[in-house]
Amino acid sequence: MKIGIDSIAFSTSKYVLKLSTLAAERGVDYAKYCVGIGQTEMSVFPPNEDIVTIAVDAAEKSLSKIDDRNSIDMVIFATESSFDLSKAAGIYVHHFLGLSDNCRIFDLKQACYSVTAALQLAKTYIAGNPNSKVLVIGSDIVKYSKNTSGEPTQGGAAVAIVVSKNPRIAEFEPYSGIYSTDIMDFWRPTYATEAIFDGKLSAHNYLKSMDICFNRYLQMSKLTIDNIDYACFHSPFCKMARKANKQLFGEKSIDNSLIYNAIIGNSCSASLYICLISLLDNTAEDMSGKRIGMFSYGSGSVAEYFSLIVADEYKSMLMSQANKNMLSNRAEISFEEYELFRNNKALQGKCYENAGKVSLAGIKEDRREYAIKETEL
Ligand code: HMG
Repeated sequence: MKIGIDSIAFSTSKYVLKLSTLAAERGVDYAKYCVGIGQTEMSVFPPNEDIVTIAVDAAEKSLSKIDDRNSIDMVIFATESSFDLSKAAGIYVHHFLGLSDNCRIFDLKQACYSVTAALQLAKTYIAGNPNSKVLVIGSDIVKYSKNTSGEPTQGGAAVAIVVSKNPRIAEFEPYSGIYSTDIMDFWRPTYATEAIFDGKLSAHNYLKSMDICFNRYLQMSKLTIDNIDYACFHSPFCKMARKANKQLFGEKSIDNSLIYNAIIGNSCSASLYICLISLLDNTAEDMSGKRIGMFSYGSGSVAEYFSLIVADEYKSMLMSQANKNMLSNRAEISFEEYELFRNNKALQGKCYENAGKVSLAGIKEDRREYAIKETEL
């Protein structure tokens, strides 16, 4: 039985900061951002948007391609920017999507690796329950401290993936190369709102993990490097993916996979899968039957190399023009607004739009209160 990605969509903020603006304010040569790390813009989130609201938007888009929502009986929400140590963020999302209550819902955490873990879990689940579908969501808003080397690599987005039998986008292959090690390269203690990191160590461990995973993948699959038609890499910033690609594949182009991440920034758990969407949306040639190598890395660390085979009907499942419009229609914000957003504040007298139908209205008596746009009621 073929199991894989039947539908995939993403969402991000309606607001964007140009990294030329950040560079000017921080007194950094803009070339360091656009050439040195390969990023030109980053999504920045107003206080009415959180990991739940963008996840609902991504999931609504993904589910619009599915006939029977009731067959979804598992929702896995992967995130490292959780606001609750107990209640799963997926429960809010499940509610706003109106899915069946005959459904398991839980959150999953392992830095940027967590969506890959969720997909592997979903694959095994579908193998035992072929008539079920699993909704896997990865949603993160990434914040580093001001004036740190990580600041220009912030960003955020949500991806929503429906996993099922007979997938119409891509099938999972049965091979994986995995490598895990205990390392302090990037972490966020429960008392901190911003991530702490050792940039150089993290980049070193990313590349080392990739080499080990890729060799294990080749050993297990008995494939060779020439059998990989396209490649996607976790992209905390595009230069990291380019370095990884150069190390494995030399001059193979990964440009199409990085178009969206270069202007969204790091979306952690969603990042690798936004590379996949970007690749599918922006590759003109027919990718049916082609193999995509995927490298997933989550600091701390767990890494995995695996592969997908693109389905024959994948083109009919894409939302390419809508994705491009979503990104190009984001409104540019000023540096002042960026600083306010960082502290979950808004510019006085200005209303900020949400990406989708749900917005965070406020937090009262420690309860998050969400509102639904009137047109959606
Ligand atoms: P840095 O110290 O600011 O940068 O940190 P640098 O001095 O190393 O410069 C970066 C590049 O810009 C260099 O190029 C410079 O030469 C170049 P490279 O040697 O790498 O090819 N450069 C310039 N180029 C053109 N014009 C100029 C100029 N100046 C310098 N004027 C770093 C950069 C990426 C380390 C920093 O942003 C950082 O620490 N980021 C956060 C951590 C991170 O993203 N790590 C990546 C691997 S870990 C991971 O992927 C997991 C993660 O997503 C989290 C999770 O799993 O949850 C982060």
